[in-house]
Amino acid sequence: MRSERVALAEATLGWLHPGEGEALNEWALQCDGPFVELGSFAGKSTVWIGDAAEHRGTVLFAVDWHRGSPEMAPDRECHVPEAVDPSTGRHDTLRLLRATVEVAGLEDVIIPVAGTSQTVGRWWGGDVGFLFIDACHDEPVMQDHLVWSPLVRPGGLLAFHDSPIPAISRAIAEAIAGGFEQVDVVESLTLLRRL
Ligand SMILES: C[S@@+](CC[C@H](N)C(=O)[O-])C[C@H]1O[C@@H](n2cnc3c(N)ncnc32)[C@H](O)[C@@H]1O
Repeated sequence: MRSERVALAEATLGWLHPGEGEALNEWALQCDGPFVELGSFAGKSTVWIGDAAEHRGTVLFAVDWHRGSPEMAPDRECHVPEAVDPSTGRHDTLRLLRATVEVAGLEDVIIPVAGTSQTVGRWWGGDVGFLFIDACHDEPVMQDHLVWSPLVRPGGLLAFHDSPIPAISRAIAEAIAGGFEQVDVVESLTLLRRL
């Protein structure tokens, strides 16, 4: 990824480490589209995957309801004051994501979808070449896996962030039991290929 986009990804609010972003970018470059991300927040991972989508001539659907996760509540460890829209007092990261996508020059490639991952997944119409799951980190991650992973076509890739979290480890084990093989681990990122 070119240096301005690397700098943008690093400056964007979020939790993805640069090595994890590079791995997402490199693996996505090997996939056919479309790409889907569950959990975009302000767009840090979105820039890394969106850059690969641009190179592949495809699109990235960036799915997030933009109302945050339980650990982002004001009294919790992942609270980010900038995520609160001062005009409403509500958590709203869609405006941050759109600003990141605009600065990245990826408005034709990254398509924000504002809705819950489970609802969007149930109405999804086609298959997916690259799927990144980084939305809810508690029990609902299993629902994300059950709804979305069957949409990954054979040979396509499935990536999970924060793999050591117990609910996410269980989803990864379920994916491996259900026809995915592990192809890479970078920090807390686990990448799987559908057999
Ligand atoms: C850890 S953050 C994503 C971080 C992002 N991938 C990055 O690189 O910075 C998790 C995001 O998932 C979203 N989220 C949580 N539960 C969700 C759900 N059920 N459906 C859609 N988005 C959800 C939250 O709004 C939040 O923006």
